Amino acid sequence: MAEATIWSVGGYAPPHILTNAMLSERMDTSDEWIRTRTGIQERRTAGPDETTASVSARAGQAALESLGFDPGDLDWVLVCTDTPEMWSPATACFVQESLGAKRASAIDLTGGCAGFLQTLQILGPLAASGQNVLVIGTELLTHALDWNDRSTAVLFGDGAGAFLLGPSDRGVSGIRIGPGLSQSDGSQADILGKPYGGTRHNITPDLVAEGKHHTIHMEGQKVFKHAVTMMSDIGRRLIQGANLTLDQIDWVVPHQANQRIIDAVSHQVGIPNERVFSHVAHFANTGSASIGMALADMLDRALLAPGQQLLSVAFGAGFSWASQLFTVDQIPPSRFIHEGSL
Ligand SMILES: CC(C)(COP(=O)(O)OP(=O)(O)OC[C@H]1O[C@@H](n2cnc3c(N)ncnc32)[C@H](O)[C@@H]1OP(=O)(O)O)[C@@H](O)C(=O)NCCC(=O)NCCS
Repeated sequence: MAEATIWSVGGYAPPHILTNAMLSERMDTSDEWIRTRTGIQERRTAGPDETTASVSARAGQAALESLGFDPGDLDWVLVCTDTPEMWSPATACFVQESLGAKRASAIDLTGGCAGFLQTLQILGPLAASGQNVLVIGTELLTHALDWNDRSTAVLFGDGAGAFLLGPSDRGVSGIRIGPGLSQSDGSQADILGKPYGGTRHNITPDLVAEGKHHTIHMEGQKVFKHAVTMMSDIGRRLIQGANLTLDQIDWVVPHQANQRIIDAVSHQVGIPNERVFSHVAHFANTGSASIGMALADMLDRALLAPGQQLLSVAFGAGFSWASQLFTVDQIPPSRFIHEGSL
């Protein structure tokens, strides 16, 4: 039976670089504080003409073009995001139009920073059954930040990562999507999220006067603790369930939340730092985009080789958390667009 395979990968990091030094001109923070607490040195911000759909399309197009895949042959276009183009229609509809994916069905999924792995777990069987699926994780999180909340504003960035998925029996090899686990705990929904602007708290002039906008609210220390515990646990459970040993995991590709969380997870799972990929220093936390961008960057740097096993772990709003195994059968074509300027 065919298995779901990543045929090609695309990534897009908008060109504008926002450094810690630039942030410290805007708010009461410092490069030293941000680096020591998070490992982040800089992040990318979308330009004035860029939106979630246009950033998604850049990553999606990079994935399609790197394989020479005709967008007209796509069956599905999925955008996974917490910062959509608008309430309705789905961001994916704008992306479908802009890519020319004429006969595709387009839909969004929202799952916080674990959403991309959750989405892959939903899409795996679809791709294995023979459907051609473009999945794009995208965030413009800098549009959702309260710049008066220094403990949150310094953590996030913008970007997109895209995987073209299809079945393993069409003569196209790549990175096979293996088993995965995911879980949520909605009792923790108040700790991390964007509470205002939905139907529970419609934005009104009164709310705006109280300083409550469409921005991220987070209780940092609680998030830190849960993120480390849940990602370590779900990573270990997946390795054990797949009858793998830690030595057989060549790379951990974690959600790029912050370096301290990544280090604590690799320590708790028992995998040395050299086998844990991180580029959080340059792109910060890009939410649903982070794992796709990380894989695009790893391919760009030629870090992967056939035969390798990869473990991804992610955690985010919900709380939701997930783990996913991948097997590199062959290096898929990829393009990571990340030229930047200050
Ligand atoms: C946000 C986070 C970096 C804060 O680090 P922390 O060590 O917990 O810091 P605290 O919140 O205890 O704050 C310590 C002090 O630093 C201050 N501080 C917070 N943000 C600051 C900033 N950007 N610059 C300077 N000082 C800052 C606080 O006001 C506090 O000052 P006080 O002691 O005078 O009250 C940390 O909690 C974290 O990484 N949490 C997880 C966040 C995350 O990854 N979220 C997304 C998950 S998907």
